[in-house]
Amino acid sequence: MRRTEFISTGMYVPERVVTNDEFTQWMDTSDEWIRTRTGIVERRWVADGETGADMAYVATTRALERAGLQASDLDAIVYCTLSPDYFFPGTGVFLQRKLGLPGVPCLDVRNQCSGFLYGLSVADAWIKSGQYRRVLLVGSEVHSTGMDLTTRGRDLAVLFGDGAGVAILGPTEDGGRGVLSTHIFADGTYAELLFCDAPASARRPRLSHEDLDTARIYPVMNGKEVFKHASTRMPEAVQLALKTSGLTTKDIKMFIPHQANLRIAEMVRRQLDLSEDQIYNNIQKYGNTTAGSIPIALDEVVQAGRLARGDLLVLAAFGSGFTWGSAAIRW
Ligand code: UT7
Repeated sequence: MRRTEFISTGMYVPERVVTNDEFTQWMDTSDEWIRTRTGIVERRWVADGETGADMAYVATTRALERAGLQASDLDAIVYCTLSPDYFFPGTGVFLQRKLGLPGVPCLDVRNQCSGFLYGLSVADAWIKSGQYRRVLLVGSEVHSTGMDLTTRGRDLAVLFGDGAGVAILGPTEDGGRGVLSTHIFADGTYAELLFCDAPASARRPRLSHEDLDTARIYPVMNGKEVFKHASTRMPEAVQLALKTSGLTTKDIKMFIPHQANLRIAEMVRRQLDLSEDQIYNNIQKYGNTTAGSIPIALDEVVQAGRLARGDLLVLAAFGSGFTWGSAAIRW
C-alpha cells in the first residue's frame, strides 16, 4: 500500500530576536504578563524587505540538502500561510520562482493555524493517488508587519512571530510507515472571533483611510473563546486520529500541538494523559507562527534526533476560521 512519508524537513527563522521587554517601549505590557499567560519569552521578526517566500526558500534549501535532492526533484508546492506576501498572486509562485521551477503547480492554502494540516491532507491525497510524487509542503508566516504595536493591540501583538518550516513529502511502499491519517474540520460560525477585517474585497474601497485610523487593518481575537475551543477541539482530533488507526495515547512517541499558548498545550497534554517527554513545545522561542508553527517544531524534533523510524508522531492544530485538525504519522 502506498503511503506518504516525510523525506526531510527544514526551517528558518529571521535573525532579529524580539524579547518581551522590548514591547514595553511601545505599549503597556510586561515580560511577566506575557510569560505567565502564554509561555512566550521571545519571538523573531523579519528584517525590512524580508518576505514569507524568502524565509520559505531558505527552509526549503535546508530540507533539500538533507534529503540529497535538487529543487528540480519537486513536483508540486503547497504553500500554507495567513499572511501572503501580496493579496494576489499566492505566495507559492514566488517561492517557485526562487527555486527555479517554472511549470510546477503551486497551491496556496489559507487555513491559518491549521494550514499545515490542511496542506498535508491535500499533499497526502496527491501522493497516494500518484498525481504528484514529491510535494514541498510549506508553512511560512510574517506577522510582525501586521501588528498593532500600541496598548490597543497588546493582546495580539505579543503573541505572534515570524518564521517558516517545510517538509518534503513523497511516496513509500514500506508497509506501515507514512501518514496514517489526516482529519480536518472547520466551523465558520466563529469566523469573526479571530479575524482581520481589512483590506478586503468585501469593502469598497478595499482599504480606506478610516481602516487605518480605526485599526481595522489589524487582527482581532476573542482570546477566551479561542482558548476554550482550542483546548477541547485539539484533544478530540487527536483521539479521532488514534481511534482511526486502532492506537492509544500510550503509542505516541511525539505529539506536536500548534504553538498558540503554552497553557493550551499543557491542558491538551493533560487531557490526553501524555507525559512531558511525549510533547514538544517551542513557543517560548518563537511565539505563535501560525502555519509555520508545526513544521518549525517538527524540524527541531527531527534535528534533535527525537524521532526514529517507526515512531508514532501526532500533530494537532486549532485556529482562526475556526479550523482544526490532526494527523497521525508512522515516522
Ligand atoms: O493560533 C490561533 C489560536 N490562538 C489562540 O489559541 C490564543 C488563545 N487565547 C489565549 O491564548 C489567551 O486568551 C490570551 C493569551 C490571548 C489572553 O490570556 P487571558 O488569560 O485569556 O487574558 P485576558 O484576555 O482575559 O486578559 C486579561 C487582562 C485584560 O485586562 P483586564 O480587562 O483584566 O483589566 C487584558 O486587557 O490582561 C490584559 N492584557 C494584557 N496585559 C498586559 C491583554 N493583553 C495584555 C498584554 N500585556 N500583552
